[in-house]
Amino acid sequence: MNAVLLGYGTVGKGVEVLCRNVDDLHLSQVFVLPQFEDLPYFSNDGIGMVTRDDVDIVFECLSGTEPANTLITAALEHGKHVITSNKAVVSPNLERYIQLAQKHGGSIQIEASVAGGIPFLDAILKLQKLEDIDGYEGIFNGTSNYILDQMQTKGLDLATALEQAQAMGYAEADPTNDIEGIDVYYKANITNMLAYQTKNDAILPPLGISKLNTKDIELAKKTGKVIRHIARSVQKDGAFATLIAPAFLEPDNYLANVPSNYNAQLLFAKSFDQLGYFGQGAGRMATAQAMLANALDTLAGTERRIDLKFSKRVDNDLLREDWIV
Ligand code: HSE
Repeated sequence: MNAVLLGYGTVGKGVEVLCRNVDDLHLSQVFVLPQFEDLPYFSNDGIGMVTRDDVDIVFECLSGTEPANTLITAALEHGKHVITSNKAVVSPNLERYIQLAQKHGGSIQIEASVAGGIPFLDAILKLQKLEDIDGYEGIFNGTSNYILDQMQTKGLDLATALEQAQAMGYAEADPTNDIEGIDVYYKANITNMLAYQTKNDAILPPLGISKLNTKDIELAKKTGKVIRHIARSVQKDGAFATLIAPAFLEPDNYLANVPSNYNAQLLFAKSFDQLGYFGQGAGRMATAQAMLANALDTLAGTERRIDLKFSKRVDNDLLREDWIV
Protein backbone atom coordinates (compact mmCIF):
# COMPACT_ATOMS: atom_id res chain seq x y z
CA MET A 1 0.00 0.00 0.00
CA ASN A 2 1.02 3.59 -0.57
CA ALA A 3 1.00 6.04 2.36
CA VAL A 4 1.50 9.74 2.93
CA LEU A 5 2.33 11.44 6.19
CA LEU A 6 0.86 14.71 7.46
CA GLY A 7 3.13 16.39 10.00
CA TYR A 8 6.85 15.95 10.66
CA GLY A 9 7.12 16.69 14.37
CA THR A 10 7.72 14.34 17.30
CA VAL A 11 5.31 11.60 16.17
CA GLY A 12 5.62 12.07 12.40
CA LYS A 13 9.37 11.42 12.48
CA GLY A 14 8.70 8.18 14.37
CA VAL A 15 6.12 7.08 11.79
CA GLU A 16 8.65 7.69 9.00
CA VAL A 17 11.21 5.47 10.77
CA LEU A 18 8.77 2.60 11.43
CA CYS A 19 7.34 2.64 7.90
CA ARG A 20 10.75 1.47 6.71
CA ASN A 21 10.23 -1.77 8.68
CA VAL A 22 7.04 -2.73 6.81
CA ASP A 23 7.73 -4.31 3.43
CA ASP A 24 4.22 -3.81 2.04
CA LEU A 25 4.01 -0.13 2.96
CA HIS A 26 5.59 2.63 0.92
CA LEU A 27 5.71 6.14 2.38
CA SER A 28 5.85 8.40 -0.65
CA GLN A 29 5.35 11.96 0.59
CA VAL A 30 5.33 14.07 3.77
CA PHE A 31 3.24 17.20 4.34
CA VAL A 32 5.33 19.85 6.10
CA LEU A 33 5.53 23.57 6.55
CA PRO A 34 6.59 25.65 3.49
CA GLN A 35 10.25 25.99 4.51
CA PHE A 36 10.89 22.34 3.52
CA GLU A 37 9.10 22.54 0.17
CA ASP A 38 12.21 22.43 -2.02
CA LEU A 39 12.92 18.82 -1.00
CA PRO A 40 11.08 16.40 -3.32
CA TYR A 41 9.90 14.05 -0.53
CA PHE A 42 8.25 16.97 1.29
CA SER A 43 5.25 18.91 0.08
CA ASN A 44 3.06 21.67 1.42
CA ASP A 45 0.18 20.68 -0.86
CA GLY A 46 -1.73 18.67 1.72
CA ILE A 47 -4.98 18.42 -0.27
CA GLY A 48 -3.09 17.26 -3.36
CA MET A 49 -1.42 14.53 -1.31
CA VAL A 50 -4.47 13.11 0.47
CA THR A 51 -6.59 13.03 -2.69
CA ARG A 52 -4.01 11.31 -4.90
CA ASP A 53 -5.50 8.21 -6.57
CA ASP A 54 -2.48 6.06 -5.71
CA VAL A 55 -2.64 6.81 -1.95
CA ASP A 56 -4.28 4.24 0.34
CA ILE A 57 -3.22 5.32 3.85
CA VAL A 58 -2.96 8.82 5.32
CA PHE A 59 -0.99 9.11 8.58
CA GLU A 60 -2.07 12.32 10.33
CA CYS A 61 0.22 13.59 13.09
CA LEU A 62 -0.43 17.32 12.95
CA SER A 63 -1.32 19.00 16.22
CA GLY A 64 -4.48 21.06 16.67
CA THR A 65 -7.59 21.18 14.55
CA GLU A 66 -6.43 22.95 11.34
CA PRO A 67 -5.30 22.08 8.77
CA ALA A 68 -5.79 18.58 10.25
CA ASN A 69 -9.59 18.60 10.03
CA THR A 70 -9.63 19.86 6.42
CA LEU A 71 -7.11 17.23 5.33
CA ILE A 72 -8.74 14.32 7.20
CA THR A 73 -12.13 15.28 5.76
CA ALA A 74 -10.74 15.42 2.22
CA ALA A 75 -8.93 12.10 2.67
CA LEU A 76 -12.08 10.36 3.96
CA GLU A 77 -14.14 11.86 1.13
CA HIS A 78 -11.68 10.16 -1.22
CA GLY A 79 -12.04 6.77 0.49
CA LYS A 80 -8.64 6.74 2.23
CA HIS A 81 -7.71 4.91 5.42
CA VAL A 82 -6.89 7.72 7.86
CA ILE A 83 -4.71 6.84 10.85
CA THR A 84 -4.36 9.66 13.35
CA SER A 85 -2.72 10.49 16.68
CA ASN A 86 -4.48 13.84 16.93
CA LYS A 87 -6.94 13.79 19.84
CA ALA A 88 -7.80 17.49 19.49
CA VAL A 89 -9.28 16.89 16.04
CA VAL A 90 -10.73 13.43 16.69
CA SER A 91 -12.59 14.36 19.88
CA PRO A 92 -15.06 16.86 18.35
CA ASN A 93 -15.26 15.23 14.89
CA LEU A 94 -15.27 11.46 15.35
CA GLU A 95 -18.95 10.91 14.54
CA ARG A 96 -18.63 12.82 11.24
CA TYR A 97 -15.39 11.00 10.32
CA ILE A 98 -17.07 7.63 10.88
CA GLN A 99 -19.97 8.63 8.63
CA LEU A 100 -17.57 9.78 5.90
CA ALA A 101 -15.55 6.57 6.16
CA GLN A 102 -18.71 4.46 5.91
CA LYS A 103 -19.97 6.46 2.93
CA HIS A 104 -16.76 6.45 0.90
CA GLY A 105 -15.27 3.07 1.84
CA GLY A 106 -12.28 4.22 3.88
CA SER A 107 -11.68 4.13 7.61
CA ILE A 108 -10.74 6.32 10.57
CA GLN A 109 -8.31 4.67 12.99
CA ILE A 110 -7.45 6.43 16.22
CA GLU A 111 -5.50 4.10 18.51
CA ALA A 112 -2.61 6.58 18.94
CA SER A 113 -4.90 9.44 19.93
CA VAL A 114 -5.41 8.04 23.46
CA ALA A 115 -2.63 6.72 25.73
CA GLY A 116 0.08 6.73 23.01
CA GLY A 117 1.73 3.33 22.91
CA ILE A 118 -0.84 1.53 25.09
CA PRO A 119 -3.46 -0.45 23.10
CA PHE A 120 -6.26 0.81 25.35
CA LEU A 121 -8.78 1.78 22.65
CA ASP A 122 -8.25 -1.51 20.84
CA ALA A 123 -9.19 -3.36 24.04
CA ILE A 124 -12.27 -1.16 24.44
CA LEU A 125 -13.41 -1.59 20.83
CA LYS A 126 -13.40 -5.35 21.25
CA LEU A 127 -14.79 -5.45 24.80
CA GLN A 128 -17.79 -3.20 24.18
CA LYS A 129 -19.03 -5.67 21.58
CA LEU A 130 -19.14 -8.35 24.30
CA GLU A 131 -20.45 -6.60 27.40
CA ASP A 132 -21.09 -3.27 29.10
CA ILE A 133 -17.93 -1.51 30.19
CA ASP A 134 -18.49 -0.46 33.82
CA GLY A 135 -15.89 2.31 33.72
CA TYR A 136 -12.21 3.13 33.71
CA GLU A 137 -9.72 5.26 35.53
CA GLY A 138 -6.26 6.30 34.61
CA ILE A 139 -3.42 8.66 33.99
CA PHE A 140 -3.80 9.88 30.42
CA ASN A 141 -1.37 12.80 30.22
CA GLY A 142 2.34 12.01 30.27
CA THR A 143 3.33 15.63 30.76
CA SER A 144 1.20 16.07 33.91
CA ASN A 145 2.42 12.79 35.31
CA TYR A 146 6.04 13.72 34.71
CA ILE A 147 5.59 17.17 36.29
CA LEU A 148 3.77 15.81 39.36
CA ASP A 149 6.42 13.14 39.85
CA GLN A 150 9.28 15.66 39.63
CA MET A 151 7.50 18.07 41.99
CA GLN A 152 6.96 15.32 44.58
CA THR A 153 10.21 13.35 44.32
CA LYS A 154 12.74 16.06 43.36
CA GLY A 155 11.12 19.21 44.77
CA LEU A 156 11.08 20.92 41.35
CA ASP A 157 8.65 23.74 40.68
CA LEU A 158 6.01 23.30 37.99
CA ALA A 159 7.66 25.57 35.40
CA THR A 160 11.03 23.76 35.59
CA ALA A 161 9.43 20.31 35.43
CA LEU A 162 7.35 21.44 32.42
CA GLU A 163 10.49 22.57 30.57
CA GLN A 164 11.95 19.09 31.10
CA ALA A 165 8.74 17.42 29.86
CA GLN A 166 8.90 19.55 26.71
CA ALA A 167 12.55 18.61 26.15
CA MET A 168 11.59 14.91 26.38
CA GLY A 169 8.90 15.25 23.72
CA TYR A 170 5.91 14.59 26.00
CA ALA A 171 4.34 18.06 26.06
CA GLU A 172 2.44 19.61 23.18
CA ALA A 173 4.07 22.52 21.32
CA ASP A 174 1.75 24.74 23.36
CA PRO A 175 1.56 22.89 26.70
CA THR A 176 -1.57 24.71 27.94
CA ASN A 177 -3.79 21.74 27.09
CA ASP A 178 -1.45 19.40 28.98
CA ILE A 179 -1.47 21.28 32.28
CA GLU A 180 -5.11 22.48 32.15
CA GLY A 181 -6.58 18.99 31.73
CA ILE A 182 -7.84 19.69 28.20
CA ASP A 183 -5.65 17.02 26.59
CA VAL A 184 -7.20 14.48 28.98
CA TYR A 185 -10.66 15.86 28.25
CA TYR A 186 -10.16 15.01 24.54
CA LYS A 187 -8.84 11.54 25.40
CA ALA A 188 -11.63 10.77 27.89
CA ASN A 189 -14.23 12.00 25.41
CA ILE A 190 -12.84 9.67 22.74
CA THR A 191 -12.68 6.80 25.25
CA ASN A 192 -16.29 7.43 26.32
CA MET A 193 -17.54 7.50 22.73
CA LEU A 194 -15.98 4.09 22.09
CA ALA A 195 -16.65 2.52 25.49
CA TYR A 196 -20.21 3.74 26.02
CA GLN A 197 -21.21 4.51 22.43
CA THR A 198 -22.18 7.94 23.58
CA LYS A 199 -22.17 11.58 22.55
CA ASN A 200 -19.41 14.18 22.63
CA ASP A 201 -18.75 16.61 25.40
CA ALA A 202 -20.58 14.91 28.22
CA ILE A 203 -17.77 15.45 30.71
CA LEU A 204 -17.59 17.85 33.65
CA PRO A 205 -15.14 20.73 32.96
CA PRO A 206 -11.63 19.30 33.55
CA LEU A 207 -9.32 20.43 36.33
CA GLY A 208 -5.63 20.40 35.38
CA ILE A 209 -2.47 20.58 37.46
CA SER A 210 -1.63 24.21 36.67
CA LYS A 211 -2.81 25.55 40.02
CA LEU A 212 -1.03 23.01 42.21
CA ASN A 213 1.65 24.60 44.38
CA THR A 214 4.21 23.69 47.03
CA LYS A 215 1.53 23.74 49.75
CA ASP A 216 -0.38 20.96 47.96
CA ILE A 217 2.83 18.97 47.63
CA GLU A 218 3.61 19.48 51.34
CA LEU A 219 0.08 18.45 52.33
CA ALA A 220 0.35 15.26 50.27
CA LYS A 221 3.69 14.46 51.95
CA LYS A 222 2.37 15.20 55.43
CA THR A 223 -0.70 12.99 54.95
CA GLY A 224 1.24 10.18 53.25
CA LYS A 225 -0.59 10.61 49.93
CA VAL A 226 0.59 10.85 46.31
CA ILE A 227 -0.89 13.42 43.90
CA ARG A 228 -1.70 12.16 40.39
CA HIS A 229 -3.78 13.63 37.57
CA ILE A 230 -6.65 11.23 37.01
CA ALA A 231 -9.60 10.67 34.71
CA ARG A 232 -12.30 8.55 36.31
CA SER A 233 -15.41 7.31 34.56
CA VAL A 234 -18.35 5.15 35.60
CA GLN A 235 -21.20 3.63 33.61
CA LYS A 236 -24.27 2.20 35.37
CA ASP A 237 -27.85 1.47 34.36
CA GLY A 238 -27.58 3.22 30.99
CA ALA A 239 -25.97 6.39 32.39
CA PHE A 240 -22.37 7.48 32.78
CA ALA A 241 -20.22 10.20 34.33
CA THR A 242 -16.58 11.24 33.89
CA LEU A 243 -14.39 13.43 36.06
CA ILE A 244 -10.89 14.77 35.30
CA ALA A 245 -8.87 16.23 38.18
CA PRO A 246 -5.77 15.97 40.35
CA ALA A 247 -6.27 13.45 43.14
CA PHE A 248 -4.66 12.58 46.47
CA LEU A 249 -4.09 8.82 46.24
CA GLU A 250 -3.04 6.28 48.86
CA PRO A 251 0.62 5.30 48.22
CA ASP A 252 -0.31 1.70 47.43
CA ASN A 253 -2.85 2.73 44.76
CA TYR A 254 -1.98 1.29 41.31
CA LEU A 255 -2.01 4.76 39.77
CA ALA A 256 0.18 6.28 42.52
CA ASN A 257 3.03 4.03 41.45
CA VAL A 258 3.15 4.83 37.74
CA PRO A 259 6.65 6.03 36.72
CA SER A 260 7.05 9.63 35.67
CA ASN A 261 7.13 9.00 31.91
CA TYR A 262 4.25 6.53 31.80
CA ASN A 263 0.46 6.44 31.48
CA ALA A 264 -1.68 3.77 33.12
CA GLN A 265 -5.32 2.74 33.00
CA LEU A 266 -7.65 0.37 34.81
CA LEU A 267 -10.59 -0.90 32.80
CA PHE A 268 -13.64 -2.27 34.66
CA ALA A 269 -16.04 -4.89 33.35
CA LYS A 270 -17.91 -7.83 34.87
CA SER A 271 -16.00 -10.57 33.04
CA PHE A 272 -12.60 -9.65 34.49
CA ASP A 273 -13.43 -7.16 37.29
CA GLN A 274 -10.43 -4.96 36.48
CA LEU A 275 -7.66 -5.02 33.90
CA GLY A 276 -4.54 -2.84 34.12
CA TYR A 277 -2.68 -1.15 31.27
CA PHE A 278 0.71 0.44 31.71
CA GLY A 279 3.25 2.01 29.37
CA GLN A 280 4.43 5.07 27.50
CA GLY A 281 1.42 7.24 26.72
CA ALA A 282 3.43 9.95 24.98
CA GLY A 283 6.64 10.27 23.01
CA ARG A 284 7.88 9.61 19.49
CA MET A 285 8.27 5.88 19.04
CA ALA A 286 5.58 4.77 21.50
CA THR A 287 2.93 6.81 19.71
CA ALA A 288 4.26 6.00 16.24
CA GLN A 289 4.08 2.24 16.87
CA ALA A 290 0.39 2.59 17.77
CA MET A 291 -0.16 4.23 14.36
CA LEU A 292 1.78 1.48 12.60
CA ALA A 293 -0.30 -1.13 14.47
CA ASN A 294 -3.37 0.42 12.82
CA ALA A 295 -1.54 0.35 9.47
CA LEU A 296 -0.73 -3.36 9.87
CA ASP A 297 -4.45 -4.04 10.49
CA THR A 298 -5.24 -2.05 7.34
CA LEU A 299 -2.74 -4.02 5.28
CA ALA A 300 -4.31 -7.24 6.57
CA GLY A 301 -7.84 -5.93 5.90
CA THR A 302 -8.71 -6.29 9.60
CA GLU A 303 -8.93 -2.64 10.64
CA ARG A 304 -11.37 -1.97 13.49
CA ARG A 305 -14.64 -0.36 12.43
CA ILE A 306 -16.03 2.12 14.93
CA ASP A 307 -19.78 2.29 15.24
CA LEU A 308 -21.40 4.89 17.51
CA LYS A 309 -24.97 4.47 18.66
CA PHE A 310 -25.31 7.42 21.05
CA SER A 311 -27.47 5.57 23.50
CA LYS A 312 -26.33 6.69 26.94
CA ARG A 313 -27.32 9.56 29.22
CA VAL A 314 -25.09 11.52 31.60
CA ASP A 315 -25.62 11.30 35.38
CA ASN A 316 -22.87 13.12 37.24
CA ASP A 317 -24.27 11.91 40.55
CA LEU A 318 -22.60 8.60 39.73
CA LEU A 319 -19.32 10.25 40.71
CA ARG A 320 -19.57 11.77 44.15
CA GLU A 321 -15.96 11.41 45.18
CA ASP A 322 -13.82 13.04 47.81
CA TRP A 323 -10.45 12.82 46.12
CA ILE A 324 -10.44 16.14 44.25
CA VAL A 325 -7.73 18.58 45.36
N1 HSE B 1 1.10 15.84 25.39
C1 HSE B 1 0.56 14.52 25.50
C2 HSE B 1 0.91 13.97 26.87
C3 HSE B 1 1.10 13.68 24.39
O1 HSE B 1 1.72 14.58 27.56
O2 HSE B 1 0.38 12.94 27.25
C4 HSE B 1 0.39 12.35 24.22
O3 HSE B 1 -0.95 12.52 23.88
